[in-house]
Amino acid sequence: MNSYFSKFNKFPNNKLIRDMRSYAEKEKVPIIQDEGLTFLLFLIKTKKVRNILEIGTAIGYSAINMAMQSLDINIDTIERNEEMYNQAIRNIKKAKMTERINVHFKDALEVDINEFNRKYDLIFIDAAKAQYIKFFTLYEPLLSDDGVIFTDNLLFHGLVNNSERIESKNLRNLVTKIENYNEWLANNEKYDTSFFSIGDGIAVSVKKNG
Ligand SMILES: C[S@@+](CC[C@H](N)C(=O)[O-])C[C@H]1O[C@@H](n2cnc3c(N)ncnc32)[C@H](O)[C@@H]1O
Repeated sequence: MNSYFSKFNKFPNNKLIRDMRSYAEKEKVPIIQDEGLTFLLFLIKTKKVRNILEIGTAIGYSAINMAMQSLDINIDTIERNEEMYNQAIRNIKKAKMTERINVHFKDALEVDINEFNRKYDLIFIDAAKAQYIKFFTLYEPLLSDDGVIFTDNLLFHGLVNNSERIESKNLRNLVTKIENYNEWLANNEKYDTSFFSIGDGIAVSVKKNG
């Protein structure tokens, strides 16, 4: 984020949040960047989002930040990595948010979506980047009519649309999958999507007739 602006934007900031940020940095856990988080929290506030589904909890950093926006916010979040899941549970307990943040220890691609018996105002896709089209397709039936689907990491550290810079074949394949997702989303007839060069690249999709 532009360092001049970053001093004006106020994030949730308490000891737990600071500890989580240091832990993520030390252990190289990818958490949402400050600029992306600013935009996500802005959307939550302005749209008065209440029910959130997050795909990819990691240590619970984004979930706790989102839940701090209002006591009326309830979050379902899905994580398949046991160590991450356990960390998230610990952090959510420390934040006293166990009633409002429900962490599901599951592979998000193996979930029966009928288990989630409500609609969400916001679906935040932040798990394995190679699977974004699958996540979107699987979970979009759970979006409320005027809800938004928020996808992060669509510029992938500046590598998207720059794949000639990439030597590793695996990384190039991943970047191609993100590029395919961006194209697929832009051409998806059911959704109107806006792309933003904010943080690591964000798309916000709303139903066309929502
Ligand atoms: C970028 S991190 C999430 C960061 C978190 N949203 C934040 O900003 O604080 C992605 C997480 O998604 C998890 N993940 C990846 N693929 C998944 C899947 N198919 N089902 C559930 N979790 C998955 C990974 O284990 C990892 O912890």
